[in-house]
Amino acid sequence: MSKLSLDRVLQSQGFGTRKYCRALIEDGDVAIHGEVHDNYKTAVETDGLVLTVFDEEWVYRERVYIALYKPANFECSRKPSHHPGVLTLLPEQFTWREVQPVGRLDHDTTGLLLMSDDGPFIHAQSSPKRHVPKVYQATTQEPVTQALVDQLLAGVQLIDEPAPLAAVSCIQRGEHLLEIVLEQGKYHQVKRMLAAAGNHCSALHRSQIGGLTLEALGLKEGEWCFLEQAQLDLLVS
Ligand code: URA
Repeated sequence: MSKLSLDRVLQSQGFGTRKYCRALIEDGDVAIHGEVHDNYKTAVETDGLVLTVFDEEWVYRERVYIALYKPANFECSRKPSHHPGVLTLLPEQFTWREVQPVGRLDHDTTGLLLMSDDGPFIHAQSSPKRHVPKVYQATTQEPVTQALVDQLLAGVQLIDEPAPLAAVSCIQRGEHLLEIVLEQGKYHQVKRMLAAAGNHCSALHRSQIGGLTLEALGLKEGEWCFLEQAQLDLLVS
């Protein structure tokens, strides 16, 4: 059980600055369980809290864990330069809450991207010590050969890496389609591994992280959802 003043509750949920949140409350735009509260000092129990702000329901969450089906042509970086940032695909509250991508997908890569405002969670998920398998579908420019599959499984040497990197699994899914499972998350890893093995990745999609799949989440391109504990549990290796 924990109580917070109503202005702090709103601010913690990303509704804006403390000043703006106080104004929202004083203007009568905030209700709890159907009752308008216009005193921003009101102490509110946050467990199980459902706010209504501008007639829209908002479930209080101390931290948010989000899965996004990232479309192509969105950047994961904090300061996107050539394409819009992935945060533009989420409600504005998440930008105020400083939600960030967990790791990165290239601007032209599509698929499952985790996002959160929980620093330790982001750090733990991005740690190189963590061996959570990530499943990618890579479209190749040249036809897939058995030699390519064997090379990716045996390991390829990338510039700046101390040792060869190998796929955990690599299955041919079509003449130009490979399903690759990686446990590391090095910069441009799939594309660089394919290049080092003498092919070229012309399109890349991530369908799964640990036991969490885009298919099970039922997300379409550009859509997002909150992740609950049972889904977060699927991310451990
Ligand atoms: N590997 C890449 O090359 N790019 C990505 O976006 C993800 C993995």
